[in-house]
Amino acid sequence: MIGFPSILEGIEDLNREQVEKLLARTKELKIGSPARLPLKRKISVATSFLENSTRTKLSFIMAINLLKGIHIDFEAEKSSLKKGESLEQTLLTLNYQGFDICIVRTKETKLLSQFKQRPPIKMINGGDGTNEHPTQALLDLYTLNELFNGELAGKKVCIAGDCTHSRVTHSLMKLLPQFGIEITLCGPKEFLPKEIPAGIKTNANLEEALKETDAVYLLRIQAERHENQFDMSTYNEKWGLNLDLIRQVGRKIPVFHPGPANIGIEVDQELVDSNLWMAHKQVENSVYVRMAIIEAMVTNGDTNIGAKYNT
Ligand code: CP
Repeated sequence: MIGFPSILEGIEDLNREQVEKLLARTKELKIGSPARLPLKRKISVATSFLENSTRTKLSFIMAINLLKGIHIDFEAEKSSLKKGESLEQTLLTLNYQGFDICIVRTKETKLLSQFKQRPPIKMINGGDGTNEHPTQALLDLYTLNELFNGELAGKKVCIAGDCTHSRVTHSLMKLLPQFGIEITLCGPKEFLPKEIPAGIKTNANLEEALKETDAVYLLRIQAERHENQFDMSTYNEKWGLNLDLIRQVGRKIPVFHPGPANIGIEVDQELVDSNLWMAHKQVENSVYVRMAIIEAMVTNGDTNIGAKYNT
């Protein structure tokens, strides 16, 4: 039994062994091996997305369905939270009703931290403001591992764009170096975080950064989080990625994107249509990674789950 956190708020809630086990279990779930057993007891999972989402919310719902669980969308705006009930009492209510997990996306950062000592219910962070997006980073790691056939150590990933406001960048900076991946952040100075962890490089020139990278991770400009309006008029010219730029490097460089992508700004259509565009693989893998995360959480990390969880 290796355990699993009751609250997955950020990458630091997981240890290396837990992450490796998630990757291994994701592979089993994806290939549909005999280990792909549905949980015999029906699990019940609530989602509450207080910021818009397509990929994260729907892939969690698909994951719950594939696990033969029950999914309920908790509409916070129409709930008794609006009558002044505390978030803790609300989450406890979900627990007493028999929900196993509540998955939340919030505008606020670190909303889940307050519950770590005494979790009212098991919770997964589906993205909290600019803080973290741990399940996205885990599915990105899985997709990178698949792409590089398990040879991650020494690989170089350039994360390009609005790094400051990108919650997945904050998760990736904690996760990828654990597997020996070197990260370079690239983008306008306004979009480079003030505090960059040791070992993470920066490069203000995308063309130069490309020469040293094995994969690019493009980011959307998150205008909705900007305090001051950013002049977008020259962004595509200076920071946009296209096939011509990659051809100039002379190597095929796979391009990741957490989505949604703004075509014509950080990326052009030709690149999205090419076989270098990895976003569809990220989306496909997201369902299996999130299945593995839900399984691990309800079984406390014991992924011999068919047997153990159901008896
Ligand atoms: N990657 C991601 O979080 O996408 P959504 O906002 O569509 O969920």
